[in-house]
Amino acid sequence: MSKRYTITAALPYTNGPIHIGHLAGVYVPADIYSRYLRLKGNDVAFICGSDEHGVAIPMKAKKEGVSPQEIIDKYHGIIKKSFADFGISFDNYSRTSAEIHHKTASDFFKKLYEEGEFIEEVTEQLYDDEVKQFLADRFVTGTCPKCGNEEAYGDQCEKCGSSLNATDLINPKSTISGSKPILKETRHWFLPLDKYESFLKEWILEGHKKDWKPNVYGQVKSWVDEGLKPRAVTRDLDWGIPVPVKGAEGKVLYVWFDAPIGYISSTKEWADREGKDWEPYWKDKETQLVHFIGKDNIVFHCIIFPSMLKAHGDFILPENVPANEFLNLEGNKLSTSKNWAVWLHEYLEEFPEKQDVLRYVLTANAPETKDNDFTWKDFQSRNNNELVAIFGNFINRVVVLTNKYYEGIIPQPGDLTEEDRKALEELKAFPGTIEASLNRYRFREASQELMNVARLGNKYLADAEPWKLIKTDEERVKTIMYVALQIASALAVLSEPFLPFTASKLKKILNQENSLNWNDVHSKDVLIEANHKINKSELLFSKIEDAEIEKQLEKLEATKKANEQANKELEPLKDTISYEDFSKLDMRVGTIVEAEKMPKAKKLLVLKVDTGLDIRTIVSGIAEHFKPEDIIGKKVTVLANLAPRKLRGVESEGMILMTEDTEGKLVFMNPDEENTPNGATIN
Ligand code: MF3
Ligand code: ZN
Repeated sequence: MSKRYTITAALPYTNGPIHIGHLAGVYVPADIYSRYLRLKGNDVAFICGSDEHGVAIPMKAKKEGVSPQEIIDKYHGIIKKSFADFGISFDNYSRTSAEIHHKTASDFFKKLYEEGEFIEEVTEQLYDDEVKQFLADRFVTGTCPKCGNEEAYGDQCEKCGSSLNATDLINPKSTISGSKPILKETRHWFLPLDKYESFLKEWILEGHKKDWKPNVYGQVKSWVDEGLKPRAVTRDLDWGIPVPVKGAEGKVLYVWFDAPIGYISSTKEWADREGKDWEPYWKDKETQLVHFIGKDNIVFHCIIFPSMLKAHGDFILPENVPANEFLNLEGNKLSTSKNWAVWLHEYLEEFPEKQDVLRYVLTANAPETKDNDFTWKDFQSRNNNELVAIFGNFINRVVVLTNKYYEGIIPQPGDLTEEDRKALEELKAFPGTIEASLNRYRFREASQELMNVARLGNKYLADAEPWKLIKTDEERVKTIMYVALQIASALAVLSEPFLPFTASKLKKILNQENSLNWNDVHSKDVLIEANHKINKSELLFSKIEDAEIEKQLEKLEATKKANEQANKELEPLKDTISYEDFSKLDMRVGTIVEAEKMPKAKKLLVLKVDTGLDIRTIVSGIAEHFKPEDIIGKKVTVLANLAPRKLRGVESEGMILMTEDTEGKLVFMNPDEENTPNGATIN
């Protein structure tokens, strides 16, 4: 039976491009689910857009010296393109700066305001007196009152996941000026979440105990058990949607008030364009609303937004909120600011046309029940051992043999044997098996069942051995190839949600575009008919070589080094000295004239240096950075009047001045002027 679905995927902030973590946590599962529902013949609105009012946006704009508008335009473009490139099949991708969204969010607020759903209150809020700005959300950090994390934000602690108000923080600090905020009075509108406690308890805690994921249910339960408090839904900021009531000049809607309404505005935009009515998608009780999000969004989608929808009264509530945990990269947390990520646009440059490989690996390894790790080795082995060796190999055999034996024309089968029947029965069971996993949002499991379809095909061919039989029993081979082609045709349908690019290639190869849907695989006896002509084979997947993986690992290694360097604390300034103290140092230009290793010392080189005054011995701890033969002739700076001291029995008469480069490698503080003579003083 066909049903109506509204599927939303969290609106990404437009303050940076998107990476594999976003894809794995939200967009790939949401896309698989939407594509599957469509293939089942449902009416689906798959909705997303850019979240352009986050406080991170004006902050980033300030840092880069550009306008917030420039930031959102840039990243909205990049993000939208990445989604399209990876086949994320949104019915609409909008943005919260769109007029339709400003109006929808504004009207939503007005309705709640007029119906007295808000508490209006003047309270003391944190204020940065240096930059004359109120501080909330990401503009303030401090210690989390719940877990003691010293880097909690004014809206949330990322360590323990608590949702916070800025005034909850212990030792708050402005992220704009670094100063300690003062308290200042300001008027705001609060949604009294406490009023919705019993509704939330009944709806989620009692109603969805069984069907919501334990991670989501558990978080909701702990918030509700702790007791909910009124939450401000307006902010003193100049970036966002103006609060549409008198006396609220200079204030905007809280980003988490406006953003989820973006799902509704985006649906309206889509319906307008398609000549449809948007309302059933949000108001008809028969519609199934599902929000795909990451775990840091749970409170907003399970407590705040539903309370808003409830207060408004006209809207349906989500049927489920399948939130994923986080994906790590090679053992470390993904991070935009540390550039610890695989960016989608960069991935495509390095692995062009391998979108499905990434989709598959991220699904097979999705962080569904716990945080999970993406590694390049796993990426390579899933590609080579599963996509190439199982899926690609099966299709290639079937297509090549059909072309070779029958010039691509599917043969008429003879009587089916016991094995043929068994294979076809097993095939018919797959839509149901995969579906059972998808309906429970178990995408990893579903992706493995899909691979089992190809495994079935491989096993069938390996047992039947048509390439041997062709010499002795041509009639039997016709039946075998016919059965194998049914499996190939089923794969083209069932793989579409997971591997959309591959599925469409495969349909082209089978010359079978747009003809079958999901249920046909279960209900039809014949998926691809005898006498139908297929096309030539085309490679669906190709092997990924070690060198390609090494390159990615090296890239990450370089990022790690650069981060370490950037995070290195500068040494604190030493005590002030007088000019007299300084003038006691006798520094000279010199040239290294001899260099050799100090026997049995890993770090030391014994140098002879021409200081202009003399040629003297200096023992220097640079052996791990330079080969002796490479530094002979080098101009250096010598501290010439340092008291001599013995190192491993060799008297060292002075010191060579060095510094470190960004990679921690030593470099000489050498006068780069070729013609500075030895003995010249430095002052
Ligand atoms: N921009 C938010 C994030 O990236 C998600 C917003 S989801 C919505 O975490 F519901 F507000 F749209
Ligand atoms: Zn905390």
